[in-house]
Amino acid sequence: MKDILTAPFVREMTATTANMYRLGWDERNGGNISYLLDERQVGEYLNLKKVIRTIPTGFRADALIGKIFIVTGTGKYFKNVETDPETNLGIIRIAKDGETAELLWGFCDGGKFTSELPAHLMSHMARLKVDPENRVVMHSHPTYTLAMNYVHELDEKKFTHTLWEMCTECIVVFPDGIGILPWMVCGTNAIGEATAKKMEEFRLVVWGMHGIYGVGKNLDEAFGLIETVEKAAQIYMLTCNRPRVNTIKDCELVALAESFGVKYRKDFLNL
Ligand code: 13P
Ligand code: ZN
Repeated sequence: MKDILTAPFVREMTATTANMYRLGWDERNGGNISYLLDERQVGEYLNLKKVIRTIPTGFRADALIGKIFIVTGTGKYFKNVETDPETNLGIIRIAKDGETAELLWGFCDGGKFTSELPAHLMSHMARLKVDPENRVVMHSHPTYTLAMNYVHELDEKKFTHTLWEMCTECIVVFPDGIGILPWMVCGTNAIGEATAKKMEEFRLVVWGMHGIYGVGKNLDEAFGLIETVEKAAQIYMLTCNRPRVNTIKDCELVALAESFGVKYRKDFLNL
């Protein structure tokens, strides 16, 4: 059996959480990540028959029975994942009943998976239907995206449109736009269900005045989506109090999207 601490998926999780922390997106225990793993690959590092303990999830995820995820722990600081992955991360498998998590590794101080597991697993189920290659769900509290939530209308079309105007490549990176939920109590099945519903249509979902979710087929893709939104939100926050002299016009956004061959939300433009 190989050493789990050398597994690429553990290394990627530690590198990503450290990066997000250093960008100031994940203060204290803010943010969480879940990453669907390949059973055969995990089997090179862990005895898959050995369940350390079982933890009820509080919701059904039948479509994920037998699936294995590496997830961040609730109350754990992204800052600390790099130096102590075995306490701050866990590897769980969804049990045959669809509502229990079998802990295969990690959470070694008796901890458990993120309180946002409903939003994560429900989003995985929704995205896998649209994109069978989806593997990652990432939640974060990036500063400028959050700031923008307080000064910009939380309307999907208007919010997406404003961000598309901020950096030339936005419409290429997230042509499908951004879904938005109003402020809701976090950590509940209700916010999980609402997030998953948005994920049928979007790869990015803003939780009003809380943070953002991004998904992708790997950690880089989910991270890159959030990073691009955050950059555009930063430009917006740096310029929104000044007179706008120049802007990228909608006809130019169309030209970009067409030149890069992306399928974009035409209804999010004012053509
Ligand atoms: P957890 O510590 O439970 O992952 O919660 C952090 C968070 O960002 C809640 O939305
Ligand atoms: Zn949060």
